[in-house]
Amino acid sequence: MELNVIQMEGDMSEILAVNGGPKAITLDQDEALRWPRLTEEDEQAVLDLMRKNEISVSEEPKKLEKEFAEFLGAKYALAEVNGTAAIYAALFILGIKEGDEVICPSYTYWATAMPASTLGAKVVFCEVDPHNLNMDTEDFKKRITPDTKAVIPVHLWGLPCEMDEIMDVAWEHGIAVIEDACHAHGAEYRGKKMGTLGDFGTFSFQASKNLPGGEGGMLITDNREYYFKAITLGHYRRAADLPERYSRYQHTCLGFKHRMSPLHAAITRVQLKTLNEKNLVRSVNIEKLLNALDELRGFHIYRPPSYIKRVYYENDIIYRGEETGVPIDRLIEMLNAEGAEVRRDRYPLLHQQPYYVERGSNPEDLPITREVNEQIMALPTFPGDDGSLVEQYIKAFRKVAASF
Ligand SMILES: Cc1ncc(COP(=O)(O)O)c(C=O)c1O
Repeated sequence: MELNVIQMEGDMSEILAVNGGPKAITLDQDEALRWPRLTEEDEQAVLDLMRKNEISVSEEPKKLEKEFAEFLGAKYALAEVNGTAAIYAALFILGIKEGDEVICPSYTYWATAMPASTLGAKVVFCEVDPHNLNMDTEDFKKRITPDTKAVIPVHLWGLPCEMDEIMDVAWEHGIAVIEDACHAHGAEYRGKKMGTLGDFGTFSFQASKNLPGGEGGMLITDNREYYFKAITLGHYRRAADLPERYSRYQHTCLGFKHRMSPLHAAITRVQLKTLNEKNLVRSVNIEKLLNALDELRGFHIYRPPSYIKRVYYENDIIYRGEETGVPIDRLIEMLNAEGAEVRRDRYPLLHQQPYYVERGSNPEDLPITREVNEQIMALPTFPGDDGSLVEQYIKAFRKVAASF
């Protein structure tokens, strides 16, 4: 068998690990990639509540609401059982029902779309921008009909959507904007935190998220009536303190029990204290890697404009195998052999899922989304790396790319 020998700096040659050579990545990765990063402070916060017997009814979620609203610069924050419930609440408050249409991208987690379907509305999927994977405003505009009532832009992987454009189109057509900020805790658009620009912001505190609480979510709004309605929907006890038009539902609420568990709120509160710091560790490490990838053939690194401050929930990049002659699956195989924990994108496109196809969605629609979906590679976010692991990743990518 002919070995793939490549020329390295200083005329050293190195054999790709996939061909039996030594791995470029030799450091232990468990600690550098471990997430969430819980400490004794998280344990103590949970223990304190357990000792006070506050494992269900507690002021803890309200404390989180106050702190998170302050962090975002938002008026009202309501702690929800998860991010899905927050999105449902926003749609419910808007009165979304059968006959209405809600626009969102297909390339997202199902919870962006399914709450609208549950309420009987038609979900209309729009294209993403193939450079940054966020909703394409022009395509969103084309899909508006007289029945469109809401749009749900997703700040995918922590990258803020072009909110000025989206808000302008939405305002022009009288469409409500529900930001799915479940990936974007701490990200900013023109100095404003994501989740505070639309009519609603929705967040998830599920364990993998940048602000992990285990499970939990938050609904954000500056509209007092919306806030009251959200309480009435899923927080029956708290409805007692609202004006009569809402408090009369305190013994039934309007359908759900959406309150967040205090134990999860306690963890989220502790994690919030270091959110910025932890976002920064990811950004510094990831950007070092992306700068290196930018110089390699086939890798397309998106750089947001200066008025966008992104965070990294995931570190997804676009790779075009036709530019290098090495298909993405082969590249991943080569990188995995070097020890790199890289993989294909993980979202199955929603418009191709049986639930939507059975309801008239055309799986052949959204050619841009379908094409880019084949080019996405997820790299680690290095949340606990002091920079040394990322250096080895750079070495691995350069080694593999030198064989193209
Ligand atoms: C884009 C997006 N929206 C909504 C959600 C729903 O959040 P949760 O899992 O807390 O219900 C998620 C969760 O992963 C998500 O990724």
